Amino acid sequence: MRPTAPVRIFTAAAAVHTLAGPDGPRSGAAMAELGTIPHGAVVVDDTGAIAWVGATSDLPASFADAEIIDCTGKTLMPAFVDAHTHLVWGGDRKDELEMRIAGADYERIFATGGGILSSVRQTRAIDDDTLYAQSLVRIERMRRAGTTTFEIKSGYGLELAAELRQLRVARRLGADFRVRTTCLAAHAVPAEARVSAAARAAFIESICAEILPAVARANLADFADVFCDRGAFDVDESRRVLLAARALGLGLRVHANELGATGGAQLAAELGAASADHLLYVGDAERTALREAGVVAILLPGTSLVLGKPYADGRAMVEAGVPVAVATDCNPGSCAFENLAMVLALACYGNRLSPAEAVCAATHNAACSLGLGDRVGSLKPGRRADLLVLDTPDVRDLVYHAGSPLVGQVWQDGLRVA
Ligand code: NIG
Ligand code: FE
Repeated sequence: MRPTAPVRIFTAAAAVHTLAGPDGPRSGAAMAELGTIPHGAVVVDDTGAIAWVGATSDLPASFADAEIIDCTGKTLMPAFVDAHTHLVWGGDRKDELEMRIAGADYERIFATGGGILSSVRQTRAIDDDTLYAQSLVRIERMRRAGTTTFEIKSGYGLELAAELRQLRVARRLGADFRVRTTCLAAHAVPAEARVSAAARAAFIESICAEILPAVARANLADFADVFCDRGAFDVDESRRVLLAARALGLGLRVHANELGATGGAQLAAELGAASADHLLYVGDAERTALREAGVVAILLPGTSLVLGKPYADGRAMVEAGVPVAVATDCNPGSCAFENLAMVLALACYGNRLSPAEAVCAATHNAACSLGLGDRVGSLKPGRRADLLVLDTPDVRDLVYHAGSPLVGQVWQDGLRVA
C-alpha cells in the first residue's frame, strides 16, 4: 500500500460540520445532528482522503509541514451530492418555459408530443461529442456551486442506441466528476410506440429484453429508474421494468407520485428501491411503507417551484422516520436548476425541512441513496476529501441568504476544483 502523508490542513474554521454519525441513511431527529466541531480543522492526505478531523487546538504536531488553508470565519462541510439529475441532454426547452409561464400545463405539453419527447428529438439529433460538450457546461457550473457527486439518468434516447449513447456520455463525465449512472429508458413512451397498444407493449418488452441487458453488459449503469406516473408508465409496467433491472444486478430508483397518487411510492417500497423521488402526492400509508422498506425519499423542490405544483411534505416525511434527501432534478423541462445549495434552501421554505436537516439531505443521505455513504457526504478519516469552504461562519446562511455566492472553495479528492 502507498504510504500516505498529510498534505493539506484546513484550519481554524468557525465550524466543521462533519456529518459524522451512524452509517446508512439518517431519519428523524438524527437528520439534524451535523456532528459539528467548533474551531475545527480537517487534514487531507496525499491520496485525496481525509486523514484527521478535530478541534484546531488538538492538531497533532506531526502534521506541521503540510500546506495550511486558513478558514478563519468560514464553515467547512462535505461537498454536495446531487442524487437525482438528468443532466445529459441535447438542446433546450426554453420555448416551453415561456409557454408555461403564460399558463400552459406541463402534462398537456407532454401528452401532445412536446416536453420529454422534444428533448428526445433534440438529443437523438446530435453527435456524441456535442452531447458531451453541452453536458459538460452544465456539470461544471453545478460543481462550481458546490456539488462533486452526481447521479445522472438517461431517458432522452428511448431506443437502444440513443440510451447507450447518453449513458456513455455520463460515464465519460465520470472521468472528471464523481458520477453514478441510471438507465431511465422507461421515462416516456416514444412517439413511434404511441401508435397502438401493441406498439406500447413492444416498447416495454424492448426495455426489459434488449435495452437493460445491453446497458448491463456494457456496465453503463449502476441503477435503473422508471417514471411511474400519470401519462408515463403504470404500476404493472413499472414493476416489470424494475424486476428486469433487478435481475440484471442494477439498483432501483423510482420517479413516484409527482403528478398523482399513482402507486409509485408503494412500488418502490415493495421492491426495496434505493430511492423514491418527487413524492408530491403521498399520505401516511406511503410514508410508512417507505420507512419500513428503508427507501430514501428524494425531494425535488425546484421542480415544484418551476411547475407551480405543491411541495412534497418533507416535514411529515422526517416525522414519519423516512430518510430524506434533496436533489436538483436538473433536466431540460421541469427544472433546469444546477445550484443544489439554492435547492437546499427551497427544501426548507417549500418542503419545511430545517436548515440542518436539509444539509444532511443534500450530503450524507443523498450519498447513501447512491451507495456512496462510505466515500462521500461526511468528513471522517478515510472518506474522500470532497469538501466545501463556505464564506460564512454560519451554515444556516445557505438558507437565510439563499442564492448568494457563499460556496467559496470546492475540493474534490483533496484537490481544489472551484
Ligand atoms: O423528474 N418526471 C419525469 N422526468 C423529469 C422531467 C423531465 C423533462 O421534463 O424533461 C422530472 O421532472
Ligand atoms: Fe427526474
